[in-house]
Amino acid sequence: MTATIIDGRALAQTLRQELKREINGLKEKGVTPGLAVIIVGQNPASVSYVKAKAKACQEIGIYSDILWLPEETTEKELLRHIEDLNQQEEIHGILVQLPLPPHISEKAVINTIAPEKDVDGFHPVNVGNLMIGDKGFIPCTPHGIIKMIESTGETLAGKHVVVIGRSNIVGKPMAMLCLREHATVTICHSRTRDLSRITNQADILVVACGSPQLIGREHVAEGAIVIDVGVNRTEAGKLVGDVRFEEVKDIARYLTPVPGGVGPMTITMLLFNTVEAAKLAAR
Ligand code: GUN
Repeated sequence: MTATIIDGRALAQTLRQELKREINGLKEKGVTPGLAVIIVGQNPASVSYVKAKAKACQEIGIYSDILWLPEETTEKELLRHIEDLNQQEEIHGILVQLPLPPHISEKAVINTIAPEKDVDGFHPVNVGNLMIGDKGFIPCTPHGIIKMIESTGETLAGKHVVVIGRSNIVGKPMAMLCLREHATVTICHSRTRDLSRITNQADILVVACGSPQLIGREHVAEGAIVIDVGVNRTEAGKLVGDVRFEEVKDIARYLTPVPGGVGPMTITMLLFNTVEAAKLAAR
């Protein structure tokens, strides 16, 4: 079998056009969705993600404001910036780029963002709402993955989804979203024994462990849908995922590439959440 490649860039483009129409409608009512992005320090990957987010906002008519803070910013100063943004009416979404320097508590930062502006979906209120199936912001990467799976025409109900990785940003919310869609879900991680025995049972395999090219033909059942969340740079400077693309493309039915797979969809769902936040504020 040769896998159909799920083109994240094309799907992102389609969804962004829909969002643009919605934004134009909001603007006619006098509301321009606004996103504030805070970055502390100069982590090169974070700098490039933040620039990509601002560019995506600009392209579809979301107002964005990037706060570039120096590495030595104190936690107190950062929290004060967030509290300011919580009060600003033209800002509907607030995103603090992670990771933060070690002297700043991620938990304190996330807890300070007003839940109704938490477009990352990381605040405990939003995490809790996802857990109990209530309305709230859904973390962007898993939300984008659900859209990618749906784009194949497959439904999640009754399928066995195996998620590799248990991060708060991807693995755990991914599992909750699949459960909400009535899938049977298994979460694997670095201490999982006999990984390939479990992954071979997956109808849908979501790989988000951050181990370059860990997953190969021995892990994948014929006809599975394989979603590669990994973004790793090799010593030669090439971007690779957590999946050995060339091996798995001959076994899977659907496969996402790196780059051009999950990445563009993550940013798209951030735009989606920002528009949702603006709609809530416009009510
Ligand atoms: N760092 C890596 N991924 C993310 C994300 O989705 N949101 C934020 N805020 N930081 C990140």
